Amino acid sequence: MAIKHYLQFADFSLNEYEYLIERTKIIKRKFKNYEPYHPLLDRTLVMVFEKNSTRTRLSFEAGMHQLGGAAIYLNTRDSQLGRGEPVEDAAQVMSRMCDIIMIRTFGQEIIERFAANSRVPVINGLTNEHHPCQVFADVFTYIEHRGSIAGKTVAWVGDYNNVCRSLCEAVVMLGGDVMVGAPLGYHPSDVELARLNSLGAGSVRHVVSASEAVSGAIAVHTDTWTSMGQEAEKAERVRLFADWSVDESLMALAAPGAGFYHCLPAYRGLEVSAGVIDGPQSHVVRQAHNRMHTARAVLAFLMGVR
Ligand code: CP
Ligand code: NVA
Repeated sequence: MAIKHYLQFADFSLNEYEYLIERTKIIKRKFKNYEPYHPLLDRTLVMVFEKNSTRTRLSFEAGMHQLGGAAIYLNTRDSQLGRGEPVEDAAQVMSRMCDIIMIRTFGQEIIERFAANSRVPVINGLTNEHHPCQVFADVFTYIEHRGSIAGKTVAWVGDYNNVCRSLCEAVVMLGGDVMVGAPLGYHPSDVELARLNSLGAGSVRHVVSASEAVSGAIAVHTDTWTSMGQEAEKAERVRLFADWSVDESLMALAAPGAGFYHCLPAYRGLEVSAGVIDGPQSHVVRQAHNRMHTARAVLAFLMGVR
């Protein structure tokens, strides 16, 4: 049987997400009740990080421990990956010593080459192009709080980056509509918009105005203007995105009761004001907490636990 990997949000079907959302609710309830749940006893997760992380590492490491298994952390600094060992060799070797692998790396093609050579499931813990685990937690957070996304409008303000691409995939699959507010040059191409719009019942549109993007939206998402790997462009990005900050006056244009979402880490005074991220509309801490529960649902699912 072909091994199932989770390299981008669209790798799971809508039916599989409906199942995973219900499993996450059950797993979260068990955690809150201090009820042991160890379906992955004696199983090992290897986590490979080529970029920094707080939430992704913690959610998978703590999550694997809570499922009864063990997690091993590798990074580029102290493994042979940092000395240029071919991804194909690393994948063949690592996947003979563990049961599941999570990777945070640069280009999506790296994780695809790794998965093609792995005997065990591979999970994308963030690439330059995708961040499916983050966005599964984000949509779970929305659904837990407000119910179905179908027919709702979600706004993105800022760079069309890895988180935005995965968010667009998710919302379209779940039947909602995304307004991507991004400056020209940092927006989805027409080809990309066509791909996103083919993924499900929902839709994605690009607008060149933050206020138009958030108008009537029930959820407003943003992220750093400078993703990992783009540090050399930071000064230029801060200048270019200066008018794209999510502040109180922008949130006032969204639907009444709209929520604010950010994957974190956040930079107050740049992509979001302190008043918004620390205010009553913010869901950012719930999003981060839900990373652990959604990670556990994904780990168990890919390991065949039903
Ligand atoms: N949101 C997120 O992936 O955070 P980390 O970079 O801390 O893992
Ligand atoms: N877009 C950000 C997300 C960090 C979790 C980055 O790639 O750095």
